[in-house]
Amino acid sequence: MLLSASGMLGLQAQTLTFKTARFKAMDDPACAAPSYDDKNWQTLKVTQVWDGQGVPENTRYGWYRFTMRIPKSLVEASDLKECLEFHLGPIDDADEAYLNGTLIGKTGKMPSDEGGYHSAWSTPRVYQVKLDSKAIRWDEENVLAVRCYSGNHPGGMFVPEGVVVKVPSRIDGTTLSFSRKPSAKEPTCTVQLGSTHQTALSGQLTVEVIDPETEQTLNTITRKVSGVKAGKPVSVDVPYDLSRMLQIKASFKEKKSGCTVASIHQPQYILTPAAPAAPRFNTPALYGARPGSPIHFRFGVSGERPMKITSSNLPAGLSINPDNGALSGSIAKPGGYTFTVCAENAKGKAEQKFTIRVGSKIALTPPMGWNSWNCWGLSVTQDKVISSAKALIEKGLADYGYAYMNIDDGWEAPQRNADGTIAVNEKFPSMKELGDWLHSEGLKFGIYSSPGDLTCGGYLGSIDHELQDAESYNSWGVDYLKYDWCGYGRKHATEPDNQTVASFVRPYLLMERCLRQQPRDIFYSLCQYGMADVWKWGEAVDANSWRTTGDITDTWTSMYDIGFVRQAELQPYAKPGHWNDPDMLIVGKVGWSANLRDSRLTPDEQYTHISLWTLLASNMLIGCDLAQLDDFTIGLLCNNEVNAVNQDILGIQAKRDIEDGDIQIWTRPLSDGSRAVGIFNVGAEPMRVDFGKYLKQLGLEGLSSVRDLWRQKDLSTTDLRYYIPTHGVRYIKVK
Ligand code: GAL
Repeated sequence: MLLSASGMLGLQAQTLTFKTARFKAMDDPACAAPSYDDKNWQTLKVTQVWDGQGVPENTRYGWYRFTMRIPKSLVEASDLKECLEFHLGPIDDADEAYLNGTLIGKTGKMPSDEGGYHSAWSTPRVYQVKLDSKAIRWDEENVLAVRCYSGNHPGGMFVPEGVVVKVPSRIDGTTLSFSRKPSAKEPTCTVQLGSTHQTALSGQLTVEVIDPETEQTLNTITRKVSGVKAGKPVSVDVPYDLSRMLQIKASFKEKKSGCTVASIHQPQYILTPAAPAAPRFNTPALYGARPGSPIHFRFGVSGERPMKITSSNLPAGLSINPDNGALSGSIAKPGGYTFTVCAENAKGKAEQKFTIRVGSKIALTPPMGWNSWNCWGLSVTQDKVISSAKALIEKGLADYGYAYMNIDDGWEAPQRNADGTIAVNEKFPSMKELGDWLHSEGLKFGIYSSPGDLTCGGYLGSIDHELQDAESYNSWGVDYLKYDWCGYGRKHATEPDNQTVASFVRPYLLMERCLRQQPRDIFYSLCQYGMADVWKWGEAVDANSWRTTGDITDTWTSMYDIGFVRQAELQPYAKPGHWNDPDMLIVGKVGWSANLRDSRLTPDEQYTHISLWTLLASNMLIGCDLAQLDDFTIGLLCNNEVNAVNQDILGIQAKRDIEDGDIQIWTRPLSDGSRAVGIFNVGAEPMRVDFGKYLKQLGLEGLSSVRDLWRQKDLSTTDLRYYIPTHGVRYIKVK
């Protein structure tokens, strides 16, 4: 969303801007006092987090101090004259701000606060002080001191435009916000005009619905408004078509100053067509298991329920639960076992030939499922895993192959049992029951540990207990282990050969041997952020996937860097059984704690994210709260043609074939002889792209078919001009 202001008559507020401050990693309430001596503190940029600026590792508390002269002329330049504002930007994770020793604002919670630590890292801080407050020393030196607490990496202030101090003008406090009206039958956007100030504003609010592709205005609503002030917003509802890519533009012309503020919002849009009521198979027709290992697999079939899923020629040793399509049993002898599965409901019947390949390889296609980290962080509980699994089934995600239910960090007790086995904390009453229940639904059970003494979240790791832990996982029915370097870094730092690749391989090889002694297939997921080019040796430790980068967050910068920049050279390393892992999906409600919010990626960015991850043959682990899935997110995650690219049994990851300014074209060959093509616009402006001009370079001359994968529609083979929005994609399959 872009909020821009313009005006002819309005006074432009004067501002003071600070890009650096004095800083010290410590905690002492005395730092709030203006007289505190900060001469020996370091100077730190406030435009980026403190990590990487020479601040000690694992800093929790830090103080920033800004010394400033606040001129009275700031007041004269304002046509509002209400308050002095401090714009501190977002802060990782909680803060308290003091002006000359007086507390002027606080966001998030520090561990000693009532209710304990609560991160508010993404909230931009704007603290107001009344102009007549004694805390302000006009035309003299003032000290703004900011106490910060960071619960985890990264930490501190990060306000790219710098800390801004000003006496706002009338128009400055205006806010325009957009939300989907939950109660409305037809998709409706509520545009709310508000103000952060006490002075009432009046003027004209205009809301337009625009088709960005044709630049046509489809609907305009104009309203005269008055009395808009803090706590007294006004709103306008505008209906729109959910199946189209649209923009909603709102502008407010303030009467007295003549200034206008405007903002553009992109509402969510659903391209994935509704699934037919008759049964349709959505999962790949191939599954790998090791000889004698228990098989847990759920046939992914969409369509109306009730539905019966059966097979008349199942290999000996296997059975299907007809009510949920859960396949179980085991096969001792290596080989390929092919049989026909039939799904039938009141609306029709579908059949699929299915092969189980019993041999040394598992994960013949990338894993699909859910992981607790991006939503619950360390607050994950057994109940949350169960309710998420139920939602996975109820909302139909299991019908599209999402099967792994993975507990991330936060399940271990502080102490091992007396016999050295790992103990679970009070949030997980019974891992065995959880595993059994997931398996009865045809789902899979995943867990997390570290080769070190402690996990990243400070829970017990597996060091010196690797075999015992692998045995516990086996006894609970674990099907997936994410093994996260974290605490191992401390041990590694002391090893004499820590410059060698062997030193990075060692802890992972050790656990691999322990896992392979277990009589079950445990997907082995390496998480060490790509150190020592893990993609070059991941297969050698029989890892099924390896994280290639640090953690993803729900911003374009993070997703762009991880998806487009850091995967570009990794194509050769992915293959059936062994996948590059660019981290979990950041769609839906995420938050890394108990406080969830909608992903900050725009709808276009989310289409890009899923398109790219499917092209990359990436693990498809959903990171949001499944109980709160909306139709838009379900559309993103449950498009059978899009997912089929990710699950293609050829298992060849996409390569970036074209990079032409902001246009990137990534393609991957598919097992049916066609090619999946993602045409991405990574730039900040929408583009019209003529795909035709790249055909020769891509070896695609003489196209016989072009299919839009999101819309599931055939497109012209001659007119290949596409509109691609900012950070958006056109995802096609060509022959
Ligand atoms: C990080 C890891 C995350 C999550 C977290 C748990 O190192 O990359 O995905 O597992 O630890 O503490």
